[in-house]
Formats: sequence, C-alpha cells, structure tokens
Amino acid sequence: MKYQSQKVAYAYFLVAMALFAVQVSDGLLAGWIYVMPNTLSEAAPFNVVRMLHTNSLVVWLLLGFFGAAYFLVPEESETELFSPTMAYAQLAILVLGTTGVVVTYSFNLFEGNWLLGTQGREFLEQPLWVKLGIAVAAVLFLINITMTVLKGKKTAITNILLLGLWGLVVLFLFAFYNPENLAIDKQYWWFVIHLWVEGTWELIMASILAYLMLKLTGVDREIVEKWLYVIVATALFSGILGTGHHYFWIGTPGYWKWIGSIFSAFEVVPFFAMMSFAFVMVWKGRRDHPNKAALLWSLGCATLAFFGAGVWGFMHTLHPVNYYTHGTQITAAHAHLAFFGAYVSLNIAIMSYAMPILKGRDPYNQVLNMVSFWLMSGGMVFMTFALTFAGTVQTHLQRVNGDGFMEVQDQLTIFYWMRFGAGSVVVLGVLIFIYALLVPRKEIISQSGVAAE
Ligand code: HEM
Ligand code: HEM
Ligand SMILES: [Fe+2]
Repeated sequence: MKYQSQKVAYAYFLVAMALFAVQVSDGLLAGWIYVMPNTLSEAAPFNVVRMLHTNSLVVWLLLGFFGAAYFLVPEESETELFSPTMAYAQLAILVLGTTGVVVTYSFNLFEGNWLLGTQGREFLEQPLWVKLGIAVAAVLFLINITMTVLKGKKTAITNILLLGLWGLVVLFLFAFYNPENLAIDKQYWWFVIHLWVEGTWELIMASILAYLMLKLTGVDREIVEKWLYVIVATALFSGILGTGHHYFWIGTPGYWKWIGSIFSAFEVVPFFAMMSFAFVMVWKGRRDHPNKAALLWSLGCATLAFFGAGVWGFMHTLHPVNYYTHGTQITAAHAHLAFFGAYVSLNIAIMSYAMPILKGRDPYNQVLNMVSFWLMSGGMVFMTFALTFAGTVQTHLQRVNGDGFMEVQDQLTIFYWMRFGAGSVVVLGVLIFIYALLVPRKEIISQSGVAAE
C-alpha cells in the first residue's frame, strides 16, 4: 500500500462482501420459493425476498465501486485521500440506510408512509429517507474523490472514473422524481436503471479494468488510454439512445422502436471492445504478476460481460423480438449474466487485487479464489442457460399460443429446479471466495515481494 488513506477501501470491501453473501442467499431463497411456493409465505413473502435480493445487489456493487475508487485514486493521483474521515462517515450513512431497508422490508413497516415506507418501483423500493441518505453519502463521496483528484495527478483512468461516478450520482437524482402518470414514471425510472448499467457504470468498469490491466500486465499506459477512449466513446454513443429499447411498449411514441433497436444494437461494441482489450493487454503484457486470481477474474469479467450484456442483451433488443420476449425468463437470464459478468466480477477482480495489498501481504489462497471463480461462473452460466430455455418455452406457449401465465409457469418447473441447483453452486462459490480473501494461508503459487506493488 503506497498511501495510508487507501486503507479506507478495506472497510468498504468488508461491508460489500457481507452484503454479497446476503444477496445470493436471498436469491437462493427466492429460487426455492419458485419451486416450493408456500415456503415462508407469511414470514418472508416472495416480493420481500426479491426486493432484498435485488437491492442488496445494487448496494454492495456501489460499495465496491466506492471502495475501488478510494483504493485506486490515491495511487493514480499520487496523493493521499482528501479526507478519510469523510469516507468513513459516508460508509456509516450507507450502513445505516441499508439496515433501515432490511428492517423496513422484512417487517413490512410504515406501509404507505411517504417518508418511512417502501416506495414500490423495482430496484428503487427504498423508503424516501434512505434515498436521501444515499444522496448525502453520494455527495460526500464526490467531494472527497474529486478533491483528491484535483490536488493530485490527473490520468485518463481517474478522469473517466470520475466522469462515470459523477454521472452515476446525477442520474440517481431521477429516483426522487416519481410522476403520477405510469408511462412518464417508467420513462424516468429507466434513466436510473438503464443509464446506470448501460452508461455510467460502463465507464467505471472500463476505468477499473484499465487500472487492473496496467498493474497486472505491465503494458504501457498510452496503449491502455487509447483503448479506454474508444470504449467510453462507443459506450456513450450507443447507451444513451439505447435507452429506447425500454420505450417500445410503455406508451412512448412509435419512433422509439427504431431508435431503441438501432442504438442498443451498437451497445454490443463497447462490451466487445472491453473483452478484446483485456485479452490483447494480457497477450502483449510483459509482466508476470503473481496475483493470478485477480487476472482470472479480470478476464472472466470482460468475457462474461460480453456474453451476458452483449450477446444475451442483443438477443432480445430488436423490437420485433422484444415484442414476444418482453418480461419473460429471457429477461431474467440476461439480467443475471449481465450483472454477474460485468459488475459482480469486476468488483471481485479489484477486491482480489486490492485485499492482499491492503492487508500488506502476498496474494494468498489463490487456488481457492480461482476455484470460487469457476464455481460462481459455471453456476451463473448454467443458470443463464436454464432460464433461457425456460424463457423460450414460455415465449412460445404464452406469447405465440396464448396460454395463461400460471398455466405456462407450471410447465417450467423443471427449469426452475435447475436454476435452484445452479444457484446453490453460486452460493457455495461466494462463500469460498469470501473465505479465500479473508482467511490468510500461504501457498506454493504465491511468491514474495508482491505486497509492495
Ligand atoms: C451474483 C449473482 C446474482 C446476480 C447478479 C443476480 C441478479 C438478479 C437480478 C438483476 C434480478 C432481477 C431480474 C429481473 O428483473 O429480470 C434477480 C432476480 C432473481 N434472482 Fe438473482 N442474482 C444473482 C444470484 C442469484 C442466485 C444464486 C439465485 C438462486 C437461485 C437467484 C435467483 C433469483 C430469483 C429467483 C429472482 C427473481 C426472478 C423473478 O422475479 O422472476 N439469483 N437477480
Ligand atoms: C452490464 C450491462 C447490463 C446489465 C447489468 C443489464 C441488466 C438488465 C436488467 C436487470 C434488465 C431487467 C430490467 C427490468 O425489467 O427489471 C434488463 C433488461 C433489458 N436489457 Fe439489459 N443489461 C445490460 C446490458 C444490456 C445490453 C448491452 C443490451 C442490448 C444489447 C440490453 C438489452 C436489454 C433489453 C432489451 C431489456 C428489456 C427486456 C424486456 O423487455 O423485458 N441490456 N437488463
Ligand atoms: Fe437497457
């Protein structure tokens, strides 16, 4: 660790990992309820479990991004963080908000209350007071990280990371706008949901991957920067108007069918570029970095993001296709592999790289970490295929033949069992990953002299 204040990242990563475990366990429970529908129907109904699953996902990914920024910005900018105290205060607010969310959802408190009650828009269910807390935490974060960059060196990596993080926070403000009219509500809701994962978060992903490639492969900074600019340009060009792929059937004008289809088709480009970038860097790189686990996760991230977001996204993004597949298990298949490939794996990659450094030791338990990569990735890929088959059958029976929704669901049971099986493997992988990162053990593969890097 070159800068003392990088230590802040450690606290963020710990909370993120704890929530990661909660997130996948809730997913597994939701998957179990799918096959055994009466499970906990009073104590923990499906809608509550699902909310916990998706919200904890988003919160831990954000905590991971914040931690990553606090870890890499001091090093890139060659200066200490502007204020570690502020960073810890920000974390405390986020932990308080998260606890509030869990308690409110689990016990269904304050129903209908404008400030304290659940708000009921998918992913943005948090009560208003939690949203306000998130906004305050976000502002603290932006001040802290921007001041750090301003007082230090500016690199392409920090510039693009900052652009992504500012965009992320500004777009979150649309979470506060909830118009009565459902069509308008949805239009703005996608400003957060879509423009995060297919816009600002992509910039964050590109810059963190670039940082990892720089460290792990030892290629020249100039080469990394050229790729970075191409990725960012194509991501913004395609992703902003690509929002149109969610405007096909919500009551917006018909021209969105074409704008959405055409621009979102180009969204494949930045994901393809990121995958090519990662492999070309490893191929060109001269450095034989001992942290093989971080490298594996970085390559896995770029690859699975290309398939989950790029390929599985393209599969249903053209309006004549989406007309049939909208809101089926095809969507769930894409949602899982895209989130896992792009953002879960990205966080795991930077954690795998940073944790040994933060703890001031060699990369340890690498074999175990790599085992967790194959369990998680294998599990997610299997789950994606199971849901894709389920979605194909569902689309045919429900949208082509016109059978009833629940009747069709009954026929998909076998796929939901497969999802549960795959999900169990994912959860096992997550537990092994957390163990590998936190419980130190020397191994043959680790070499000395890396802790300083
Ligand atoms: C890191 C891994 C995971 C990620 C990134 C993830 C992500 C998501 C997302 C984004 C959704 C909302 C999907 C949508 O709106 O289409 C969702 C729902 C869901 N997930 Fe996961 N999930 C993960 C792990 C799991 C696991 C291990 C299971 C276990 C079986 C699971 C089961 C479910 C279920 C049952 C739903 C609800 C689907 C529905 O409402 O029909 N997830 N997950
Ligand atoms: C890492 C990037 C991405 C993530 C995390 C992601 C995640 C998601 C999630 C969670 C949903 C379900 C939202 C909901 O209805 O609740 C969704 C829907 C959708 N995504 Fe993505 N996505 C990504 C990239 C892409 C890309 C690149 C494309 C197109 C090439 C795409 C095309 C779509 C489409 C068309 C839908 C709507 C599905 C429907 O009509 O039901 N996505 N995505
Ligand atoms: Fe989208």
